[in-house]
Amino acid sequence: MPDAPKKLFIKTYGCQMNVYDSERMAEALGGNGYEQVGTPEEADMILLNTCHIREKAAEKVYSELGRYKGLKAANPDLKIGVAGCVAQAEGAEILRRQPLVDLVVGPQSYHRLPEMEAKLRDGGTALDTDFPEELKFDHLPGARKATRGPTAFLTVQEGCDKFCAFCVVPYTRGAEVSRPVSRVIAEAEALVAQGVREITLLGQNVNAYHGPDGSGTWGLARLIRRLAEISGLDRIRFTTSHPRDMDDDLIAAHGDCEKLMPYLHLPVQSGSDRILKRMNRGHTAEAYIRLVERIRAVRPDILMSGDFIVGFPEETEADFQATMDLVAEVGYGQCYSFKYSARPGTPAAERPLVDPAEANDRLHRLQALLARQQQQAQDAMVGKEVGVLFEKPGRLPGQMVGKSDHLHAVHVTCDAAPGVLARVKITESGPNSLGGMLV
Ligand code: 5AD
Ligand code: SF4
Repeated sequence: MPDAPKKLFIKTYGCQMNVYDSERMAEALGGNGYEQVGTPEEADMILLNTCHIREKAAEKVYSELGRYKGLKAANPDLKIGVAGCVAQAEGAEILRRQPLVDLVVGPQSYHRLPEMEAKLRDGGTALDTDFPEELKFDHLPGARKATRGPTAFLTVQEGCDKFCAFCVVPYTRGAEVSRPVSRVIAEAEALVAQGVREITLLGQNVNAYHGPDGSGTWGLARLIRRLAEISGLDRIRFTTSHPRDMDDDLIAAHGDCEKLMPYLHLPVQSGSDRILKRMNRGHTAEAYIRLVERIRAVRPDILMSGDFIVGFPEETEADFQATMDLVAEVGYGQCYSFKYSARPGTPAAERPLVDPAEANDRLHRLQALLARQQQQAQDAMVGKEVGVLFEKPGRLPGQMVGKSDHLHAVHVTCDAAPGVLARVKITESGPNSLGGMLV
């Protein structure tokens, strides 16, 4: 009799790359006889895939781990692992501080999980926070399991060499590396063969992609154009980009590659040159605004998205106003905004903080402006005809929900199956989604 499958529960925090990594970890452990389950109570192994980007990340992980005490008491064979950027940053400290933990694995070592898991079966603990020479992706199982829907993430690049003064990513994810072109194409083709119709290319600095193909390296635009040749793949997106890596070819692709969707996440963080300089961003506010103009010149309907940090050390009210001015000038469709949080080990953590009440107040003012812009961008879709890729049933009976080309959620009363890409006329704009009807 073959052994009954062991049960794996993964809890994922943070960015889309963690979502992708969690899927890959589940597949890697699939080879060791694990299948994924939806609750920690039924699990033989619990993995927390953690994020370290903002404050109290480690504390949240420790308090989550504390909650598993009862489960471990009830089932001494239960294995508990910590993966992701907190694992990378804290390393062996996690094993010391929380004896419930059996395994700690950093983001560059997931391909070693099967060996690590085998080691646990002998009653030991396992720790791996190396930055190995070999690329994890190319040692993870190639065949991806059936995906749940018509959209998928595909990591093409990882790590960052930019060293923004506030950011832990260059330390937790390591130096920038790009996957070889052939691997990316093979993975995309496999996804499409499984029914995926939209792929989002992922990377911490995805537009710095420079994947080897034998003779030289390809930039992101060339990769996108090549992926666009895959028949059955209807939509391509990518995230997250740095303004400095937005080259001419990638700008042009927004105008001439039909499968590249009109939505661009291009974080600027601040609109003040003084702060941008202290952040080590390597560009001015003016350069960013000109860049957006060039993109809009080739793709006028592009929906711009971004990230902002308010209350960066020594940010004055005038600096903050410059951010508000930049937002007003660019006009965003959807943004993320955060209050600065000092990350130990980063250069900005040494600098004097802005008064927290002032920082909160700025965050509220910025978020109010961004929310207005988001609503305006959504309302402006009413009356237009857009492509919608249906993903799943909506809240109301008979309704389907999918994403528009511009990444708006759209509800339509129709019987289209998930995976159908249809033309939809937008008839209404609600607080967080659009409504429409099939054309
Ligand atoms: N404090 C606040 N926000 C941060 N981000 C990254 N590091 C910090 C920090 N220390 C934000 C940036 C980045 C996004 C992923 O998280 O806006 O683009
Ligand atoms: Fe962090 Fe800056 Fe790199 Fe983005 S570009 S991951 S914010 S260091």
